[in-house]
Amino acid sequence: MATVAEREAPAAAGAVLEGLPPGPRLPGPLQALRLFVRPLAFLRECERRYGRTFTINFAPYGRVVYLTDPADARAAFTGDGAIFHTGEVRQPLAPVVGQRSLLLLDENEHLRHRRLMLPSFHGERLRGYEAEMARITAAEVEAIPLGRPVALRPHMQAITLEVILRVVIGTRERERLAPLRAALSRLTGLHPALLLAASWLPHDLGPGSPWRTFKRILDAADALLYEEIARRRREPRGDDMLSLLLEARDEEGHGLDDRSLRDELVTLLLAGHETTATGLAWTFERLVRHPRAMARARADVEAGEHAYLDAVVKESLRLRPVVLEVARYLTQPVELAGRRLPANTAVMSSIATIQLSDRHWDEPTAFRPERFLDAQPEPYTWIPFGGGVRRCLGASFALTEMRVVMRELLRRRELLPARPEPERGRVTHVTFTPARGGEVVARPVAG
Ligand code: HEM
Repeated sequence: MATVAEREAPAAAGAVLEGLPPGPRLPGPLQALRLFVRPLAFLRECERRYGRTFTINFAPYGRVVYLTDPADARAAFTGDGAIFHTGEVRQPLAPVVGQRSLLLLDENEHLRHRRLMLPSFHGERLRGYEAEMARITAAEVEAIPLGRPVALRPHMQAITLEVILRVVIGTRERERLAPLRAALSRLTGLHPALLLAASWLPHDLGPGSPWRTFKRILDAADALLYEEIARRRREPRGDDMLSLLLEARDEEGHGLDDRSLRDELVTLLLAGHETTATGLAWTFERLVRHPRAMARARADVEAGEHAYLDAVVKESLRLRPVVLEVARYLTQPVELAGRRLPANTAVMSSIATIQLSDRHWDEPTAFRPERFLDAQPEPYTWIPFGGGVRRCLGASFALTEMRVVMRELLRRRELLPARPEPERGRVTHVTFTPARGGEVVARPVAG
């Protein structure tokens, strides 16, 4: 037995139960289907029927224990890193991000990489990136058609990809930007089914086979990324993340080798591109349906303030979390949520259930950015970026980018809902996205 997890409400009469908690008895594929098609409804139904901790059986993880109590999520986030791993559950990403990616590393190597990467995400650095983010947004706004329904998400994806290219990788020259942009958008556009097929069958079975298709896309992106790394080693610049990562040294004076740098660049691309774009699409999806909040956001923009814009972003990430849950894999038996859970179990902190629970939030389904102006949320009730030593490395980066994009877009365009009814959510790749991509009608700002 490794640790005793902190818990708000210990199991009945202090008894610790053995094994996995109960859960739906549907066949595994049906559980996976329900989780995929209507994730929020399915999770809430499970919570109602089985309580705050339940087991869902779904591929590729098998039996997964869901935690819907903030105290249990905290225990999983802050538990001993030698016991609460993530590498095992994120292995399907390995063929793309590589084994030296922060997403897959655990324990000492994870901490070492994280320490080397942290300085690039400091507040002062982020402020330095704002002007570039604003320029990129201003250019993309011109590509949004006027006066007819348009899905904002593809435009948001174009912005967040460009931010990664210019701010993270630091490529500015037009002749190198175009091929890199094309190669990286093919990489991020890889269908998860192709990825799974390629990781299950990592052999070249001839033209058109998943592995050959996947390798062609990967090799093209890798060649350009290694070229960028080599160029930056020859010509250091210092104002982008890659330059900072190249200079970073651990206590023993060692830096990241080329393979690690490549893996971390792809990690930042994959972790930061679609997530932020989807967060923005949801933010506008909510804002256009709440004219009072929209008017207040506009007033913030006009006054050069950002407190309300930040509250809008936080409330959107609460109500429509882009990542619905985060997993940890138990390397040893652990006492958690009043149970003794066996080793080799995946536990999932259910971001969506916690952030939409009326136990922790007043009127949880209402869009009320003001709640973030008046008070701080209770610990571990607002967790769109996960928590503990694995909390999203790019959380401040994402919040800054979302605020800048919102400000620049509202400054130039009036946005109206394309239809009155709210958009449903669906799971695409790993994110929870608005089904119509955040559809709006854009008009030039009056006056
Ligand atoms: C709205 C946008 C974003 C959301 C909702 C989001 C959410 C998350 C979540 C839930 C995790 C897992 C945390 C955990 O396991 O506890 C994560 C990890 C991570 N994110 Fe983000 N993310 C966003 C944007 C970004 C951006 C812009 C970057 C970088 C430029 C980034 C880089 C990372 C990295 C490197 C990790 C792995 C951290 C580790 O394992 O130590 N993310 N993110």
